Amino acid sequence: MGFGCMRLPTLGDDPARIDEETATVMIRQAIDQEVNFIDTAYPYHSPGLYHTGESEPFLSRVLEDGYRDKVMLSTKLPSWRIENQEDMERYLEHQLERLNTNCIDFYMVHGLNQAYWKKMKELKFETFLEEALDQGKIKHAGFSFHDRLDLFKEIVDYYDWSFCLLQYNYLDEVYQAGTEGLEYAASKGLGIAVMEPLRGGQLASNIPPQVQEVFNQAEIKRTPAEWALRWVWNNPLVSVVLSGMNTREDVKENLKIANIAEPHSLSSKELEIIGKARDIFKDKLAINCTGCGYCLPCPAGVDIPENFARYNDYHLFGSPEEKASFQFSYEALLLENRRASVCTACKQCEEHCTQEIPIVDELKKVKELYETG
Ligand SMILES: NC(=O)c1ccc[n+]([C@@H]2O[C@H](COP(=O)([O-])OP(=O)(O)OC[C@H]3O[C@@H](n4cnc5c(N)ncnc54)[C@H](OP(=O)(O)O)[C@@H]3O)[C@@H](O)[C@H]2O)c1
Repeated sequence: MGFGCMRLPTLGDDPARIDEETATVMIRQAIDQEVNFIDTAYPYHSPGLYHTGESEPFLSRVLEDGYRDKVMLSTKLPSWRIENQEDMERYLEHQLERLNTNCIDFYMVHGLNQAYWKKMKELKFETFLEEALDQGKIKHAGFSFHDRLDLFKEIVDYYDWSFCLLQYNYLDEVYQAGTEGLEYAASKGLGIAVMEPLRGGQLASNIPPQVQEVFNQAEIKRTPAEWALRWVWNNPLVSVVLSGMNTREDVKENLKIANIAEPHSLSSKELEIIGKARDIFKDKLAINCTGCGYCLPCPAGVDIPENFARYNDYHLFGSPEEKASFQFSYEALLLENRRASVCTACKQCEEHCTQEIPIVDELKKVKELYETG
């Protein structure tokens, strides 16, 4: 298990205000129990992708007192902000400084999709990576990915990567790189890091009652988080699972699961149970948003992930008779200037969406549900 530092606890709603006291205890608690891989990125814990996040400098403080030597540190080159080779060098230098380290153990070209891949190839990212490797500024070069399978394979084949980071959980077996991509990369010798193993929390809390019923029927009782994490760890090709945790209880539970989950440890009956849960989820999830926030900030101010979370909540748990209470939550959780109706259809968000959601069209549906009539 690796510690993903994209969703640390915060003080209030501002993502830049990490609850440093709690998060320090959580991360050190994990390292004390042998977690040795910590993942962050340039924009994590900021209002959006074009901002400089607080996660990296915060980690440099967490990793004082001898903790840096106990872990492999992973961070990423913000590909959407890169215009030339000098930018690549400048961001890496800044990250080494922000992380207070001489070397980043695992360095990724962040969030590759069709557009960023084309640009990074044109800018000859490989020259930059080779130099950084030669100079000992990074130890291993990889990429993180959000796009279609054929592009994933093309990227795997283009350069001698050490590893890749892909979204993988029991709902996304045939989505983006999926199992086929994972197996392809592993067959070419890449280490496999997994992100969003709980789909950003959707597979762990507030699951539909029908899914809970399926889990209740299993002989062994497990929490939804344990079913989901075990499904990922069941795959022997997975090198590290990045878990995003925002409470001390999450850390405790996930460490416990990590200690017992072995590859090939789920029986065919247990895999069948997870298959049933998957089918129910697939039927009910209205918008495929994982809440990663890469779409933000919206120039018009729409809180896109929260709008989609409210919409999905209604489809997962609501009914027309209960619509008023869901509408109440929508209005309580979203100020008027954050709601779907504020969208100007500029589509800037759609370029960055990791799930290729037609955001503008989906926001119209949210507006229709909660703001019309
Ligand atoms: N490179 C990229 O493009 C990219 C994109 C996404 C993520 N990542 C990396 O991958 C890491 C993992 O992704 P993720 O943060 O989306 O991970 P995740 O594990 O799928 O979801 C994290 C969320 O799950 C919930 N959770 C965790 N453990 C739980 C438990 N035992 N019981 C109940 N709920 C639990 C927490 O949310 P609540 O408790 O609030 O429900 C937590 O915020 C990130 O932190 C980041 O480092 C990279």
